[in-house]
Amino acid sequence: MLILAIESSCDDTAAAVLRDNTTLLANVISSQFDVHAQYGGIVPELASRCHIEAIWPVVNEALVSAGITLDDIDLITATQGPGLVGSLLVGFTFAKAMALVNNIPCTGVDHMAGHLLAIGLEDRVPDFPYTALVVSGGTTSIFSVTDNTTFTLQGRTRDDAAGEAFDKVAKLLDLGYPGGPVVSQRAEKGDPAAFAFPRAWLDKESLDFSFSGLKTSVVNQVNRFRQKNELVPVEDICASFQQAVIEVLVVKTLLSAKKSQHTRVVAGGGVAANDALRQHLSEQCRQQGLECFLPSHVFCTDNAAMIGLAGYYQFQSGHTVSPDADAYSRSPLN
Ligand code: KG4
Repeated sequence: MLILAIESSCDDTAAAVLRDNTTLLANVISSQFDVHAQYGGIVPELASRCHIEAIWPVVNEALVSAGITLDDIDLITATQGPGLVGSLLVGFTFAKAMALVNNIPCTGVDHMAGHLLAIGLEDRVPDFPYTALVVSGGTTSIFSVTDNTTFTLQGRTRDDAAGEAFDKVAKLLDLGYPGGPVVSQRAEKGDPAAFAFPRAWLDKESLDFSFSGLKTSVVNQVNRFRQKNELVPVEDICASFQQAVIEVLVVKTLLSAKKSQHTRVVAGGGVAANDALRQHLSEQCRQQGLECFLPSHVFCTDNAAMIGLAGYYQFQSGHTVSPDADAYSRSPLN
């Protein structure tokens, strides 16, 4: 079965072609980075307009690079939610229209399911069950994954997502957008123990997260330097902030695995591309006798390949969408 997958939940227009759940034939991503960078964050209306301009060229490029035409496609799948509704509507409506006109079945995928299954695009794929941390610009959640369509929420952020915290700290320090990659780059040269930023463990045994207190603490620390007209030690601030985020993410993910009696741990989402997080999670898993599975960077950040995989499993389990199905901004999984 040949699958055309489309992702447009935020600021990347992406299309992929897969053969079943086994072979990725094309994976195209068009980023709107330059459009939003000047505003220091995503402007939803601009994002929708950029998706409209990019959708057909991106889909066409995916088909051409896979060496096929639309006539060869057996299933079209697109992200249905969560995300920016104006952005989602472009990809999802495009997918439904293509499917309707060409008489091809169509599935609507939850973006979160894509991140939870993205590890399936790698050569080394975990058996079920596994504990998965999904950590991105809009989500910080832990799930128990028992098969390709069953995801049970174990914990989630009560305020900011970890990626959002990275982006806000980058904005505070005038490092540009998106914040994650640049904060982690600056953190490499800093001392993670320079500042004792708070770790929000919440109630004992809680698997929920909170990053708003950490963010406020970083703001206060930076303001103290600025008020005294002192140079802000950007590298040390980034390293100490990143360390505080990583510690909480790793401890709670491993606690969740322990509670679920899982021996396999998976991570996904844009922040899972953070090398310090990857190293710390791998090392802690090794020390606790758990297997750690991390998707390559391109499958951590938004991509259509993971949507294709999730859409394939959804179709196999008998789910398709009708032309009047709507996009949604909040995930029912979360
Ligand atoms: O999954 P993603 O591409 O989009 C969604 O939010 O769905 O994740 C984007 C988020 C942004 O907040 C970005 O700053 C963060 O992932 N990010 C990182 C890194 N690369 C991307 N955060 C920390 N370290 C990174 N290397």
